[in-house]
Amino acid sequence: MKVLILDTAEAAISRAAGIIAQTITQKPRAVLGLATGGTMLPLYARLCQLHAEGLRFAGVTSFNLDEYVGLGADHPCSYHRYMRAALFDHIDIDRARAHLPKGDARDVHCEAIRYEGRIAEAGGIDLQLLGLGSNGHIGFNEPTSSLGSRTRVKTLTESTRQANRIYFEREADVPRFAITMGVATILEARACLLLATGPAKAQAVAAMVEGALSAICPASALQQHPATTVVLDRAAARDLRLGAYYEHVHPEGQDRVLA
Ligand code: PGA
Repeated sequence: MKVLILDTAEAAISRAAGIIAQTITQKPRAVLGLATGGTMLPLYARLCQLHAEGLRFAGVTSFNLDEYVGLGADHPCSYHRYMRAALFDHIDIDRARAHLPKGDARDVHCEAIRYEGRIAEAGGIDLQLLGLGSNGHIGFNEPTSSLGSRTRVKTLTESTRQANRIYFEREADVPRFAITMGVATILEARACLLLATGPAKAQAVAAMVEGALSAICPASALQQHPATTVVLDRAAARDLRLGAYYEHVHPEGQDRVLA
């Protein structure tokens, strides 16, 4: 795991955007795995800005991590809507190649299997972007999710429902289930990029990077991934025991190689 620690959230966001930009510049037909949540909004704003400056997404295929069960693509709180508002409406991505699970599919279990198949048909994911739940989830793989799990329907924890409560009018409206890529689906991406900012993520970051490999912290499964980069601001890095070492290896979040 490469742990890059930046002074501020803005710097962390810029660094993560730079890694995505580099991926699609080197491989214009890259397959990106995309994430949602509050952390990603400024990152997508930065990508929109990079697009305005010339970064092209026309050849990119994307697969989002998850969608709420029961919400159609036009529901204001769906991740379909989130992605259009935050990114897709502002860049030149081909909408036919920008995929999310269909939360309102008649059979959501079949939809999960179909989605997993679409990722494979596209040749797998080159770079999977990830947020981190304060409970250690990635995608909606809640604590104790099988580390061998594939795309499927998961029941959300109360803490996740509370964290997402702000996006819904009434508490009762917050969905109880989601279709999410599994932990094993995520681990098949050729590279992963996890972005976490702010003090509320510090404990989960420490458990992910330095804790035991355990389903109680699904993000710890990334310890087994051969090419994961974790981009943090100083607040999210606060509880890392080896923080000084990561900063020595990657001063100012740079990717220094042996010189
Ligand atoms: P957040 O969500 O960016 O809204 O904190 C992250 C996550 O739950 O994956």
